[in-house]
Amino acid sequence: MSPSPAFQLTRTLPEDATGAALRADVRHGLTRSPKTLPPKWFYDARGSELFDEITTLPEYYPTRAEREILVARAGEIAAATGARTLVELGSGSSDKTRHLLDAFGELTTYVPVDVSESALRGAARTLLDAHPALDIHALVADFTGALALPATPGPRLVAFLGGTIGNLLPEERTAFLTSVRGLLSPGDFFLLGTDLVKDEETLVAAYDDAAGVTAAFDKNVLAVVNRELGADFDPAAFEHVARWDAEREWIEMRLRATTAQSVKIPALDLAVDFAAGEELRTEISAKFRQDGVRSELRAAGLELAKWWTDGADRFALSLSSVPSP
Ligand code: SAH
Ligand code: TRP
Repeated sequence: MSPSPAFQLTRTLPEDATGAALRADVRHGLTRSPKTLPPKWFYDARGSELFDEITTLPEYYPTRAEREILVARAGEIAAATGARTLVELGSGSSDKTRHLLDAFGELTTYVPVDVSESALRGAARTLLDAHPALDIHALVADFTGALALPATPGPRLVAFLGGTIGNLLPEERTAFLTSVRGLLSPGDFFLLGTDLVKDEETLVAAYDDAAGVTAAFDKNVLAVVNRELGADFDPAAFEHVARWDAEREWIEMRLRATTAQSVKIPALDLAVDFAAGEELRTEISAKFRQDGVRSELRAAGLELAKWWTDGADRFALSLSSVPSP
């Protein structure tokens, strides 16, 4: 892209740290029982593309439901927050963010934060066409770590959309929300998208679509490990499984080895054996209820002020404030 003076990109994930983190995560995850791989490694350029395709699938309702709420409430969110800086964690293509940007008269600065540099660059290119006066300060960073935000005008609205918070385990969510609270001052706000508990059939279909896009997305993590660590995973020897855990109220995604196999990972000097039918957990997507969201926010020092759902009560957007000291 032709660099615009209004666009800056800061990388707080040095290439090398990413490599070391991937090696540590893969070694840790594949040598324990049951085997796991952490979700942030899904999103290389191909993974980001596949995720965008997921958002257009007939079965994947969260994107449409959240968009419906944003379209209906963007004006209210702008008026309630008066934000001059919008920080968005896990911003991806920033596609739904347009509805916020269009409604915010006071906004000067957008700070998208994502592990996917290709997604950040693509999003900035599209947004600057519609908002040429906007300052975009993109951060390639891991939102589960300590974030150093650029000094930009307040008040600040931190947004975390897409139900991505559901991809964190409960103890990771606590740490995450506490660190979000640390980014905010009195007068700042937090906008959170959460997918809601609903019938099992709808949930499972959203994570195991008929066209197989979610299966391809899930298996893409194997391609990332092959490319980055020289491994010899055969993606065709795994099948995608999505299961609803009714007790923990989350969807669990797994890759099931269809035959017994041994996978070599030269960069780790490791061989990993899979039994036929053995499952590797790749991702959870937790579903929420209003009470749970309110109490998790409160535990992190945030006060739920607004709760909006789509017409079919599938998805919720909540706005929280920082209690004055
Ligand atoms: N907000 C968008 C995208 C959701 S997909 C939407 O609502 O459609 C999740 C996004 O979070 C992806 O763009 C992925 O690259 C990013 N992501 C996942 N784990 C991350 C992490 N630990 N740190 C930063 N970004 C992460
Ligand atoms: N944040 C998305 C969600 O939980 C991510 C996602 C959608 C996802 N489909 C997926 C992650 C399939 C892994 C596999 O809804």
